[in-house]
Amino acid sequence: MVALAPSLLSASFATLGETVASFEGADAASRPDLLHFDLMDGHFVPNLTFGTQIMKDLRACTTIPFDAHLMVENPERYFDACAKAQVERVTIHAEATTHLPRLLAQIREQGMVAGVALNPATPLETLQWVKQDLQFLLVMGVNPGFSGQAFLPRTLEKVAAARELLPQTCAIGVDGGVATNNAAELVRAGASMLVAGSSLFDGGEPLDALQALRKAAKTTED
Ligand code: DX5
Ligand code: ZN
Repeated sequence: MVALAPSLLSASFATLGETVASFEGADAASRPDLLHFDLMDGHFVPNLTFGTQIMKDLRACTTIPFDAHLMVENPERYFDACAKAQVERVTIHAEATTHLPRLLAQIREQGMVAGVALNPATPLETLQWVKQDLQFLLVMGVNPGFSGQAFLPRTLEKVAAARELLPQTCAIGVDGGVATNNAAELVRAGASMLVAGSSLFDGGEPLDALQALRKAAKTTED
């Protein structure tokens, strides 16, 4: 079954604690599998969001695993803080380092799952050296930096090609532009995890939207 991860970047920062508490108390159909945190530094991407403290503080509000997406230069600076906030998985961008295997090993040494994110224009060949023991690939469906951007349709073929390339032990997630209208085809192409921001938070009740996304992501293979 596909794992769903709300991107809290799209939620109101004024009421994040309440939002997370409502996810924590939700029934199985609308409970997220992970909570996705978009850390941005204004250098790797043209936007600033939040640092690691937010995960540390929210850790007390929920047992839902945390998924940290580091859109920053020098991502290794934040691994210790992620470990202290009991982050389950840390995903770094291949474009942000010239030492991808070393950084992935550092994440795993801290007891966290290590993921690689690829911007839309970054080819899968970038994974050649790390693909054998890669645990997670995050395929970006938009150029990262902001919620609410339009999904790039060529993401679908990239997900399918990644599924061919990577061992079955490597999960594939998609982040950016995910909504009820593309969830099923992304899953059919090989995605086992979907991040969703604006499609969950920009309408009515996020718990209802998550339930609708879970339904839409169901394929006949499920
Ligand atoms: C984009 C972030 C995403 C974003 C998703 O740079 O990595 O996680 O918040 O938002 P939507 O689903 O609105 O594209
Ligand atoms: Zn993200």
